[in-house]
Amino acid sequence: MVKNKHNKNPTTLLRLVSTLVGCVFMIHLIMLYRRNYSVDNLEVSSQLLIHHPIVRELERVEEENIHMPPPRKRSPRAIKRKPKRPTTLVEEFLDENSQIRHLFFPDMKSSFGPTKDGGNNNTLHRFFPGKIWLDTEGNPIQAHGGGMLYDEKSKSYYWYGEYKDGVTYHSHKKGAARVDIIGVGCYSSKDLWTWKNEGVVLAAEETDETHDLHKLNVLERPKVIYNSDTGKYVMWMHVDDANYTKASVGVAISDTPTGPFDYLYSKSPHGFDSRDMTVFKDDDNTAYLVYSSEDNSVVHIGALTEDYLDVEPVMKRIMVGQHREAPAVFKHQNTYYMITSGCTGWAPNEALAHAAESIMGPWETLGNPCVGGNKIFRSTTFFAQGTYVVPLPGVPGGFIFMADRWNPADLRDSRYLWLPLIVGGPADRPLESSFGFPMWSRVSVYWHRQWRLPSGGKEIA
Ligand code: DGJ
Repeated sequence: MVKNKHNKNPTTLLRLVSTLVGCVFMIHLIMLYRRNYSVDNLEVSSQLLIHHPIVRELERVEEENIHMPPPRKRSPRAIKRKPKRPTTLVEEFLDENSQIRHLFFPDMKSSFGPTKDGGNNNTLHRFFPGKIWLDTEGNPIQAHGGGMLYDEKSKSYYWYGEYKDGVTYHSHKKGAARVDIIGVGCYSSKDLWTWKNEGVVLAAEETDETHDLHKLNVLERPKVIYNSDTGKYVMWMHVDDANYTKASVGVAISDTPTGPFDYLYSKSPHGFDSRDMTVFKDDDNTAYLVYSSEDNSVVHIGALTEDYLDVEPVMKRIMVGQHREAPAVFKHQNTYYMITSGCTGWAPNEALAHAAESIMGPWETLGNPCVGGNKIFRSTTFFAQGTYVVPLPGVPGGFIFMADRWNPADLRDSRYLWLPLIVGGPADRPLESSFGFPMWSRVSVYWHRQWRLPSGGKEIA
């Protein structure tokens, strides 16, 4: 029998297709590998990076074993006063009378910082997420909802945040816990661990009730970027009234990183409400405002004007309908990443990582970046909420994830969680738009009870 040479043999066809798919997959993996580990002109082998003891130490997973405390014996009067006892660990965390409160908010005895180390090499320059962090004068750092500026001129880091060292109260029964505005605190450092208090660099308005920063209003999440054309340090922040209905951004400027900053004005960017926000300065000096809008249901992103004092008219709506807040943007190997939280007031919730090839989108959601601790730790961002991501000098793909463990019963006693964030390895699951191939690297935030920077306390600024 003469074989028709055009007769398709199904096995050959199958082989051909699988070889083709295999090839595309290999090319994709190679691209992924190259994107992760080629840093400018410096080619870092993935072997070197992944197995480097510094990265291994940052990625070491620590487990947590916090359980619900046994039910307490309560008098009938106490039951009447407060009938419901916490049934979940998050409720327990939020209960100021919880028996296990010290596990989430350890007291001053376990505080850390330059005045506490006393030359003990074991603890020297270690971060203790959740413990009280002291400045160079031995006072608890007040820089909540903060952000970081690296200043080329002074070769220093500046940490800006909400100075909340006042009394926590509720302005009305259903209102969120609040502290009157005191201002924006600023701290400087050369090693990212030893922080000197530079004072309140933008202060509240004490008397003029019509002023945006009148003490009875809200000032949250201040972020500072430097404009090399104008020589100005520009601060963007969330300004609001006590009921969070003003929902605007405020802008202030200064000639020096340590202020004082002059408050310029507030606005509704692109004509929309704006609550949690951040600013991100790209490598080409274009800066962007990223803010939760449309009643926190959508994130908006748009470029700032060249002087960084306003927004350009073009705005993109991203994460539509996802109800995300606390955006923190960073960039690695020409890919933009963002960590966001859910919207649950001061209560902790699950973080999500997102990625985009262009900062204006489309943005894809990668999943929960938290690794270690335990299930409840991971689903609550380790009982915290992100605020900023700082590149880790000397570690390609290495960053510090800055987060706040809010204490709504006493907001001034909210804690900082700084944890290593590593971009590397394939994402957990392929995205819908990627035909089954992993498009992005994984973003991982590793839980540590204590950890140190690879620089181990040396000046890195
Ligand atoms: C969550 C936000 O992320 C915080 O900045 C603050 O606005 C609280 N909500 C207030 O409840």
